[in-house]
Amino acid sequence: MKILIKNGRLIDPACNLDGLRDLLVENGKISQVSNNIKADADKTIEAKAMIVMPGMVDMHVHLREPGREDKETIASGTRAALKGGVTSVLAMPNTLPAIDSVDNIRLLKDIIKKTAHANVLIAGSITKGRQGKELTDIAQLKDEGMVAISDDGSSVDNKELMLKALKDAKKHRVLVVCHCEDKALMNKGVVNLGIISTRLGLRGVSKESEYTRIKRDIELAEKADSPLHIAHLSCKESVELIAKAKKKGIKVTAETAPHYFSLTEEAVLGYDANMKVNPPLRTKEDASAIRGGLADGTIDAIASDHAPHTENEKDIEFERAEFGVIGLETMLAVSITELIQTGLLDWPGLVKKVVLNPAKILGINKGTLCVGSDADLIVVSPDKEWLVQKDGLVSKSKNSAFLGRRLKGVVEYTICNGRIAYPFINHT
Ligand code: DOR
Ligand code: ZN
Repeated sequence: MKILIKNGRLIDPACNLDGLRDLLVENGKISQVSNNIKADADKTIEAKAMIVMPGMVDMHVHLREPGREDKETIASGTRAALKGGVTSVLAMPNTLPAIDSVDNIRLLKDIIKKTAHANVLIAGSITKGRQGKELTDIAQLKDEGMVAISDDGSSVDNKELMLKALKDAKKHRVLVVCHCEDKALMNKGVVNLGIISTRLGLRGVSKESEYTRIKRDIELAEKADSPLHIAHLSCKESVELIAKAKKKGIKVTAETAPHYFSLTEEAVLGYDANMKVNPPLRTKEDASAIRGGLADGTIDAIASDHAPHTENEKDIEFERAEFGVIGLETMLAVSITELIQTGLLDWPGLVKKVVLNPAKILGINKGTLCVGSDADLIVVSPDKEWLVQKDGLVSKSKNSAFLGRRLKGVVEYTICNGRIAYPFINHT
């Protein structure tokens, strides 16, 4: 299949590309990038006034399969990804069962092979059953294609175990992704600790619970001389710790999610459980520090932390509701609206955060428009506005923190592995 994209603004900092060009896709690969390509294509896309960029690499996604297919499946989650402009996702291992053994990873690989609509990369858990007691066999799981390990949803409390995990991961060249949270300091909190938690009469989560664990894991990474990736930064102190570690030459990278740079704890004032996330939404000052970290390069990546939950688990009392929000379909538009429109990042800067850096951190061969690479790319109308509504979301769960919000930026086409994968042709 040949797809010709005409007159778009092509952006890919990996090959120093930012300008009006045509692009040709042939047999799953990008075969030409230049001015005025003439080709006998099966499909021609007129992309005047549109952005053409590599498909996003979302390195923090919960697809819930196996085990919680009522929340999301590989099929529904990857369709949501395509609609949002994401062509590769890292699937988190807090499934039922957890991805902690060869049998379980084979089961997941089989589901992916049969039902995925986009590229799904696999994270295995650090410890068996994510219980924090016994390490998984990283060598075996890596042989099965796992690219990262994480006990996401919780942190490994045992320091020695974590150090060993970092050393093993380094040996097998697998990325360690840390959900940094000290359970003891969490105090069973459900919102940020402060005036708002007091006013609402809800238990608060201190910022210490996040940054003391980041501090510990950075120290362990330094000791092990191993790369370490910190998931979902939410507060100022965490940004400062990452900046300091990077300055020292420690191999640490970090991501944040759109809700941490666009929302604050005030969003929970209406007891809306769609604002309940872990870590919690923090203060204005924290959100501003997160934006600062994105702008100055301290925070390498933006990931959705797409965390689908059913209505039964969300539309209940705030304390009892699950933590998490969906994000695959809104990540790009929230980023455009909050980071590009405000002048905090330019387009190449955003492409680095959502494509280039995550691909680099994961060590995968994806995320570029360079000739010869896999044809994973998106065509975006950057100024087109849309309203986030439950009905329009293709994810199986509708727990978005942005329902009712007008956002800028519409994904017009997603090309995944050389095929037009979105707009969807048939419903599966
Ligand atoms: O809000 C969250 N939801 N944070 C996490 O770390 C886990 C995630 C989930 O799996 O629902
Ligand atoms: Zn997490």
